[in-house]
Amino acid sequence: MTPPLGGSTCSTKGLGSTMGLRFQWIRKTADVHELARTAADEVLRLSHEAIAERGVFRIALAGGSTPRTLHEVLAASTMARFDKWHFYWGDERYVPPAHRDSNFLMAQQTLLGRIHVSEHQVHRMRTEAGNPSVVAAEYEHELRYSFGVRRDERPRFDCVLLGMGDDGHTASLFPGSPVLDEEDALVAAPWVDAVQAYRITLTLPALNAARAVIFTVSGVSKAEALRDVLDERGPARDRPARLVCPLDGTVLWVVDREACGEDVGPADAGC
Ligand code: 6PG
Repeated sequence: MTPPLGGSTCSTKGLGSTMGLRFQWIRKTADVHELARTAADEVLRLSHEAIAERGVFRIALAGGSTPRTLHEVLAASTMARFDKWHFYWGDERYVPPAHRDSNFLMAQQTLLGRIHVSEHQVHRMRTEAGNPSVVAAEYEHELRYSFGVRRDERPRFDCVLLGMGDDGHTASLFPGSPVLDEEDALVAAPWVDAVQAYRITLTLPALNAARAVIFTVSGVSKAEALRDVLDERGPARDRPARLVCPLDGTVLWVVDREACGEDVGPADAGC
């Protein structure tokens, strides 16, 4: 199962009022290590472009485990001008920042704690601020304030990193969630049955305002959902990653061979 390599488009036609063509590229890599290097190269390229044009690079980090290796590659980079980076999150678990499940803690351990950044460059979702709705509202304010946008404008991330679950969820936008219909708020705090917990997440309006989105998808368990997304098979709401379709931006899928459904046997292990 080989996804279309190179540029392609897909659309969000028929999905509410958001119409747009997503210009997407797919880069297939041998394994999660090559995936991390490939994604890191693209993040660095975007950072240089943003800093040259606007003097700052605003990136939303992904949660889960796939980004760990990518973070470590970025932290080891001698090319990154981290003093111009501002770090945000695409979603967060509703746990304290020191909790083992915290996406902030994972980023702290694999990236932020290994580079020189000041606290004003790190914009985490402050889950200790109150109930989930309070946390979401506070983060929306933080986004608008730190990006310097008016109430009727949407902040445009220079790069949004996203993962994808086996069910096609991304950030904390899960299949069939009412949050998929959100057209105004930038941040939401849905109860997620799949994990029996509250999550704090950027919404599709926030994600689809991005200049560039990079999905990193690794592992055979993602193969069916990835195929559904790339082929636009079935209802889009069943695979929310498909709804990430920046109206004026690009999407890069960095995937490994297992996620493409290729049998990577022992003979191929070194490929
Ligand atoms: C989270 C993530 C979530 C993640 C996918 C993939 O908070 O868990 O934001 O959307 O990106 O579930 O997770 P893995 O990288 O661990 O497969």
